[in-house]
Amino acid sequence: MKSFDNQLPVRLRFGPGRIAELAQALQAHGNRVLLVAGRWDGAKRKLHERCRELLDQSGLDLAVYDGARPNPTTAMVSAAAEIGKRHDCDLVLGVGGGSVMDVAKAAAVEMTHELGCFDYAYFQPQQPGSATLPIVLVTTTSGTGSHVSKCSVITHADTRIKTGIVSDHLYAREAIIDPELMLSVPPRITAATGFDVFTHAFESFINQNATPMADLCAREAIRLLSTFLPRAVSDGSDAEARAQMAWADTLAGMCIANVGTTLPHSMAQPISGHYPQVSHGEALAMVYPPILSLSWPGAVERFAEVTRLLNPELAALPDREAARSARTAVEELLGRIGLTSSFAELEPDAEALEALVVEAMSFPDTRVHPVVPSEKQVRDMFQEINGGGSS
Ligand SMILES: [Fe+2]
Repeated sequence: MKSFDNQLPVRLRFGPGRIAELAQALQAHGNRVLLVAGRWDGAKRKLHERCRELLDQSGLDLAVYDGARPNPTTAMVSAAAEIGKRHDCDLVLGVGGGSVMDVAKAAAVEMTHELGCFDYAYFQPQQPGSATLPIVLVTTTSGTGSHVSKCSVITHADTRIKTGIVSDHLYAREAIIDPELMLSVPPRITAATGFDVFTHAFESFINQNATPMADLCAREAIRLLSTFLPRAVSDGSDAEARAQMAWADTLAGMCIANVGTTLPHSMAQPISGHYPQVSHGEALAMVYPPILSLSWPGAVERFAEVTRLLNPELAALPDREAARSARTAVEELLGRIGLTSSFAELEPDAEALEALVVEAMSFPDTRVHPVVPSEKQVRDMFQEINGGGSS
């Protein structure tokens, strides 16, 4: 067996009703809290009121930034950091989905470092240091796994380049995963974020750097979501499905924290960067089919195993046949959760397509995919989903 590392420094408070422990989760790590959140409308308003009530009782000082939105930008991070600095905050709390948690993590860096958060992206010479403020996260979707990962994904407000800050300092000190907070998530967001859970587990499992520990988490996450994601989409009030998806999300988040994603994330990130109306999960749904067709010969046994987890009726198929069927199995999952998104409807011109190709090739995730693609293969896949077929 190969040697490997595994790290999970985050204290998990997992279970229905655990939001009641918000003050305890914060008090060990600071006194003046910057609360980062998204829009407090609809069902979120109740959560907002609950958090305010819990924080008021705690005696903690509070400053609020509620401008985080999907595909968050450097401008949002700077606005949050500005409020945090003005109030001399010593702790950052993120309450929301992946975008909120990404802004919270990046603000914890920007508030305590010389430069803007993008200057600490994974490819920059300078990296976040121990001055990064402690972070506590409450996740309200299942999800991006961000509550257990050391990554923050941010889009540059000017260049539209979407990239990651990756650092051990971005691990939350504590994460509250309360499935009751997820009961009101609408079906489309449940589907898109739930598909992201699948991709984190799958891409860690087929990753050239896969580890036995992450494999364990990935198999269980895929097994759970194949049953409970369609249930959570069709009935958002299904408490059992919400809890199992919250656990699958957490497991898949541990996978990306210790192994990481591969080619689909390299191709999906620039789509959402340049077309912010496309959510992360929708972008992934666009790129998955051609990538699966290209990639299964590179990891036949692993693709076969995932196909069987998604569709136990295929248990008797020989490995190569099962592996080849991965595309069909994933397309069936996407159909069951109603996550159909059209890349062609974005109407990218030739220049825009080429920018996506170049950015996808630049991500290190591309080089740990089981079949490392050439630039031409990536271009062909973008053309295929654009309705043009291979060149
Ligand atoms: Fe993702």
